[in-house]
Amino acid sequence: MHVPVLLKEVLKYLEPKANQNFIDATVGDGGHAKEILKLTTPFGMFMAIDRDADSIIRARADLEKFGKRVLFINDSFGNILNIVQKNKIRSVSGILFDFGMSSSQLENSGRGFSFQKDEILDMRYDVKTPITAEDIINNYGETELAEIFKKWGEEPKARLIAKAIVTERKKKRIKTTGELVKIIVSKKRFGRIHPATLIFQALRIEVNQELSEIEKMLKAIPEILDKDGRAAFISFHSLEDRMIKNWARNLNKKNLIEIITKHPITASAEELKNNPRSRSAKLRIIKMA
Ligand SMILES: C[S@@+](CC[C@H](N)C(=O)[O-])C[C@H]1O[C@@H](n2cnc3c(N)ncnc32)[C@H](O)[C@@H]1O
Repeated sequence: MHVPVLLKEVLKYLEPKANQNFIDATVGDGGHAKEILKLTTPFGMFMAIDRDADSIIRARADLEKFGKRVLFINDSFGNILNIVQKNKIRSVSGILFDFGMSSSQLENSGRGFSFQKDEILDMRYDVKTPITAEDIINNYGETELAEIFKKWGEEPKARLIAKAIVTERKKKRIKTTGELVKIIVSKKRFGRIHPATLIFQALRIEVNQELSEIEKMLKAIPEILDKDGRAAFISFHSLEDRMIKNWARNLNKKNLIEIITKHPITASAEELKNNPRSRSAKLRIIKMA
């Protein structure tokens, strides 16, 4: 079961109130959504978006008791403007983005998100996405592989690992996470984090084009939110956080938004103890001017 990160802080800064409309653009297992819905009762409408159809199934089950107030949408938040316009949601008081993957996806999807399990190398949130992690590992050139490992994973052994992958795939197509982990471990020592952590992160970002979806979504935010409407962004990767920070500074300079969190909010000592996923979480909040 996925434990929502920075829940108290998200509620404090998003300030959901009775009858306001909200969007959770990464609804996952519905952890944050459920609490927002309680606060926007009795008539606040709620749009629950997720790119993964299985997440939508889980969220639907979890949020069933809120009935017709919730609209479920299986799409990427990169298409948020289109989604909002198509569904004729006129007023939006707040929107939440909790990037990356959920514990349910990591542990139970069978799609190869975890280096702790031997599964197919897929890593797509949306199974309609054209490219899988297996395609990337077996088809990208050595330089291209090294580049994505460096860019999305900040992996110091990017070149060495890319080279080892290309050598191995000449013998036999690499099809499972287990096979990939074996190659990585042959080139990297165990340290504070598992040697495959950064490569898996980079592959997931590349498969799902995660940063370009964020870029598309950021452009749409000012068109979606009401005046005084708030957006909350929880990121787990320095590149994501930097994108949000720079976007917010830019709009703030033009007096289009107010930055509510001058510095990103991180998990309390208590949350860190109970939820290891909160370790790298950074929350930023903006308000429309
Ligand atoms: C960290 S989980 C969200 C957990 C949720 N806040 C909760 O409390 O249960 C992130 C979710 O975002 C979804 N996701 C990732 N990229 C997305 C995108 N571009 N558009 C929509 N959903 C996306 C994933 O499928 C995953 O279910």
